[in-house]
Amino acid sequence: MRTINYMEPSYDEHEIHAVNEYMNSKAWLTEFKKTREFEESIASFTGAEYCSVMSNGTVTLIASLMACGIRPGDEVIVPDFTMSATSHAVEILGARAVFADVEKDTFCMDYNAMIEAVNEKTRAVIVVDLNGRYPKRFEDIITFCRRHGLWMIEDAAQALGSTYKGKALGTFGDIGSFSFSMPKIITTGQGGAIVTNNKELYDKILRIRDFGREEAGSDHYLMIGANFKFTDLQAVIGMEQMKKVPARVARKKQMGRLYDEGLKNVKGIETVNNHYDDTAPCFIEILCDQRDGLIEWLSEHGIKSRKFYPALHSEPAYGRDNLKFPIAQEISSRGLWLPSSVNVTDGEIEYICNCIKAFCK
Ligand SMILES: Cc1ncc(COP(=O)(O)O)c(C=O)c1O
Repeated sequence: MRTINYMEPSYDEHEIHAVNEYMNSKAWLTEFKKTREFEESIASFTGAEYCSVMSNGTVTLIASLMACGIRPGDEVIVPDFTMSATSHAVEILGARAVFADVEKDTFCMDYNAMIEAVNEKTRAVIVVDLNGRYPKRFEDIITFCRRHGLWMIEDAAQALGSTYKGKALGTFGDIGSFSFSMPKIITTGQGGAIVTNNKELYDKILRIRDFGREEAGSDHYLMIGANFKFTDLQAVIGMEQMKKVPARVARKKQMGRLYDEGLKNVKGIETVNNHYDDTAPCFIEILCDQRDGLIEWLSEHGIKSRKFYPALHSEPAYGRDNLKFPIAQEISSRGLWLPSSVNVTDGEIEYICNCIKAFCK
């Protein structure tokens, strides 16, 4: 039996053919028409008015914060349990990432914890649609941000194809940010996108991603920017991946259901109560009591798994060990990602669940 990776990319002859065709067309490789087409397809899929793709889902967050005018001294509220890019994007601009605890059942930011973190320096809130989910009080968070003049950025890196009340996640904030790194619903190797309905923010983002230029090719700089640009070579792959999103979303939901069923009532294992009408999970998550032992056991059986992110506040990069975020800390210490690629077969899921049951019995 093959080693079952925790994550791997999924592509086939369609991507290979598209890249070949593009390379045979005297391609310029850098961003141009194919990138614009890829942007249009993301805007159309999410229902957003504007889309800008960039080199990854970290710089899309940085560019989003820059477009919202976040500066040193400002505070931005972020969940304590998320991928590090969410909070690093804030701190890299000299602003302060203020952590808030998450909810036990969604792993997303807790509304009350967010409110408690707000003060006169708060300028923005980054809601993370963790693994295609949204906070229980999503609408209250949106309303609060609007009422108090705070920017709401939705980090939807893990949520392409997931929805809330039928509307694409990523389109609820002032700006939504996606990632196309290898483990995401679609991948271009590296890559990211912002979506927005706000023309002013969009125009700023176009400048930020291109050195602050007035327009492409101009050497007149209206603001400070950098090179966050994408490439047509990646866009060609992205266009093929976009065609697969509906099937991939359906498969991710089906995989989630199969794992839930296979791990039902297993002692020492908790699954997450996903609402699969909305959520297409990027990752298969469990909480377990004997995590290190289970990782080793699975590895001996050819199954790769990966521990959850740490609670960010206590990482050396932040060093805020004096703070307490009980839910984030519990999730971080018990969470494990199981093989989640769409390449994993039903038979392999059954095998993985049986291995876990054998360990837990
Ligand atoms: C929630 C979240 N935000 C941001 C990012 C950063 O995206 P990228 O890896 O494309 O820079 C990721 C990627 O792992 C993520 O999961």
